[in-house]
Amino acid sequence: MRYESHNEEETKKIAADFVRDLQGGEVVFLSGELGSGKTTFVRGIAEALGFHEPVRSPSFTIVNRYPVENVNIKQILHVDFYRIDDASEIPPLALEEEIGQPDTVTCIEWPEKAPSGMFVATHQIICHGGDPYVFTITSLLPQREGFPRLL
Ligand SMILES: Nc1ncnc2c1ncn2[C@@H]1O[C@H](COP(=O)(O)OP(=O)(O)OP(=O)(O)O)[C@@H](O)[C@H]1O
Ligand SMILES: [Mg+2]
Repeated sequence: MRYESHNEEETKKIAADFVRDLQGGEVVFLSGELGSGKTTFVRGIAEALGFHEPVRSPSFTIVNRYPVENVNIKQILHVDFYRIDDASEIPPLALEEEIGQPDTVTCIEWPEKAPSGMFVATHQIICHGGDPYVFTITSLLPQREGFPRLL
């Protein structure tokens, strides 16, 4: 789905609508150039899940954790690989212990800095800056199997 946004508040509204479909365990890749709204989108996710403290790109720490109190979702893991220069810097972060946990929603900025296949996304959000900003959201979850169709 493609969404247009004219300001930060509209982006946070798109993020809040996106959150409605989350159950916990999701891994959201956010791709797009510098300043394309990735962190703003994550801020919208965090606010919609009840986290109201500042959300900034975890550029120097690589990982931020936001505790939240929802029925299923208790933590947002906000990862930003922008400053990763070498894949060997990733395993020490021990992210695999938390990513995909049923009580955690993981948001990864600059996922393409990690070797492909190291993390598996359930959702991909392609962000474009400009007038307007554009967010294209793709669910990568396997399609639920329906009843066999009669031809
Ligand atoms: N519609 C919009 N949605 C999101 N941000 C917007 C919008 N319009 C203007 N902006 C501005 O664009 C900037 C987006 O910054 P943001 O940190 O979210 O980008 P980013 O993709 O995370 O960048 P980086 O790659 O550096 O982490 C902010 O300064 C924000 O105020
Ligand atoms: Mg950012």
